[in-house]
Amino acid sequence: MTSYLLYSLFTALAVLPLLLYKRNRYFFTDLCYAVKLLKVGQRMRKYTQHKQLHSILDCFLDHVRKQPNKTFIVFEDRSYTYSQVDRESNRVARALQTHAGLQQGDTVALFCGNEAHFVWTWLGLFKLGCVVSLLNTNIRSKSLLHCFSCCGAKVLVVAEDLRGAVEEILVNLQEQGVRVFILSDKGEVEGMETLCDKIQQASDQPLSPELRANLNMKSPALYIYTSGTTGLPKAAIINHEKLLAPCFMLAIAGVRSDDIIYVYLPLYHSSGFLIGLCGAIDKGITVVLRRKFSASNFWNDCRKNNVTVVQYIGEVMRYLCNTPKKDNDKDHKVRLAVGNGIRADTWSDFLQRFGNIRICECYGATEGNIGFVNYVGKIGAIGKEHFLQKMAFSYALIKYDTEKEEPVRDSRGFCIKVPPGETGLFVAKIGKRAPFIGYAKNKQQTEKKKLKDVFVKGDLYFNSGDLLMIDREGFIYFQDRIGDTFRWKGENVATTEVADLLQTVDCIEEANVYGVKVPGHEGRTGMASLKLRGDMTFDSKAVYQHIKNYLPSYARPRFIRIQRDLEVTGTFKKMKVKLAEEGFNPAVVQDPLFFLEDNKGYVPMTKEIYKAITDEIIRL
Ligand SMILES: *[C@@H]1O[C@H](CO)[C@@H](O)[C@H](O)[C@H]1NC(C)=O
Repeated sequence: MTSYLLYSLFTALAVLPLLLYKRNRYFFTDLCYAVKLLKVGQRMRKYTQHKQLHSILDCFLDHVRKQPNKTFIVFEDRSYTYSQVDRESNRVARALQTHAGLQQGDTVALFCGNEAHFVWTWLGLFKLGCVVSLLNTNIRSKSLLHCFSCCGAKVLVVAEDLRGAVEEILVNLQEQGVRVFILSDKGEVEGMETLCDKIQQASDQPLSPELRANLNMKSPALYIYTSGTTGLPKAAIINHEKLLAPCFMLAIAGVRSDDIIYVYLPLYHSSGFLIGLCGAIDKGITVVLRRKFSASNFWNDCRKNNVTVVQYIGEVMRYLCNTPKKDNDKDHKVRLAVGNGIRADTWSDFLQRFGNIRICECYGATEGNIGFVNYVGKIGAIGKEHFLQKMAFSYALIKYDTEKEEPVRDSRGFCIKVPPGETGLFVAKIGKRAPFIGYAKNKQQTEKKKLKDVFVKGDLYFNSGDLLMIDREGFIYFQDRIGDTFRWKGENVATTEVADLLQTVDCIEEANVYGVKVPGHEGRTGMASLKLRGDMTFDSKAVYQHIKNYLPSYARPRFIRIQRDLEVTGTFKKMKVKLAEEGFNPAVVQDPLFFLEDNKGYVPMTKEIYKAITDEIIRL
């Protein structure tokens, strides 16, 4: 450790004059960030060096000892101290130990929305040394069963309000020998046992750490499902070591022990659960938990609870900016927002409207092995490269062929790094410091995320699936997700770019852009699904003029679909694949459709036009 510190310090000193020489205007922020990284690195080492398990649960128990009476969870006008949550989780653990016979290593699926029950049920399960599978509360029937079986859970704990979803698949669960416990004290049915009554009867005395003595940092802790828009969800395996890294994110972002964080992102995903809830536990702070995001209640909630830190995703920030302006927009205590995906224009709007809030963009994937933080706060960037990170990890942006959907290889078969300022596929070397564990019971998908022989024979990289750009100053910009680009007339079109542009037209509130297949044409042509602002109508002239002015012809959406609401996934990512499949056939799509006629503008789509296109009479 000391040698590592000295080495880092020495490097920092050695690099200092050089940096000053180059008049790096980020020198001091870089240095501050280096200190933070070293601190976090040191803690990570402290925890991982020991053979013994030191999990997020142990962090929680430390805070229970140190500050038993501090408020931990605020949920729907009730608040619970660290000690209360601890005792409640003891009861849950004891109830499940007695009635489900759970012991260390068993996997339990938790099907529960954002509520206080979630927190102590999860903690209770960790006290028993169980692996917790966090099921997405939006999924149903076949998908739900799939999630359940791929983590191998033999017990399911379900929230009262999700009873119906489980009843639908109860027969199948019984066939698989799964025991179901519902967080309720009444309504026991065949195959579904009540849990709340059993929790009430259980003792709140602490459980012996011996119950989890066989676990170590490499033992699986959680399964988190990645929200694929195609196919069935995949369960990323998170072990206790991997669980800690995102928990430090709030500390890195500058959260203090007197902060209060607002958590409304779903707890079944890594941003809400790992960064939000577990990050709060790491700092020992108060969590204001909300069932789901509500644009109209957001600021009132923050005011009422003295919230100082919020989490976000890009869409949420835009929804907030789209709410009607109010006199008290700047009246709140929020000083820091941590999240990802905010667009440059929204970022500026947000600051102007809601005041001086530091926005800390970060980039990373649940199953990924490296992340970035925009610690400078430069508008539009998702992160900044840092020399310590460069020293510790190997990563690169490589040339990518969006049509073949594979990296470009040179004559020797190796990948090609893109120069600064150019877009490339982000890949990160898999190694001891940056492990990639993969997906549960899904070797095929796990292998698909690995890229072999990248720069030398036999090396192995994690394929992020994201196209990024790094400028000369080291700022990292998100360009697109693979699949979020389409190729048309030999050109790549980034869907987010077109959508951003469309959203600057008055009548358009939201745009979702994707590529659709057209008979007789290679690649895909652009189509945009639009949500109009208020009660405005589609202003075809204005839209046409705008795209003609700002977009090259190949990037202009040939088809427009007007929707009342744009469908989003559980993490507010826009649905694209389904819309792309539905295409532009007026016989299939009931929403109003428009077609961009060459040199004319948007005209309503008709069966005749559709037929002429598919018969290849109209060439696009
Ligand atoms: C919020 O802060 C104010 C002033 O510091 C205090 O009076 C109030 O009780 C706090 N509210 C909550 C819910 O803690």
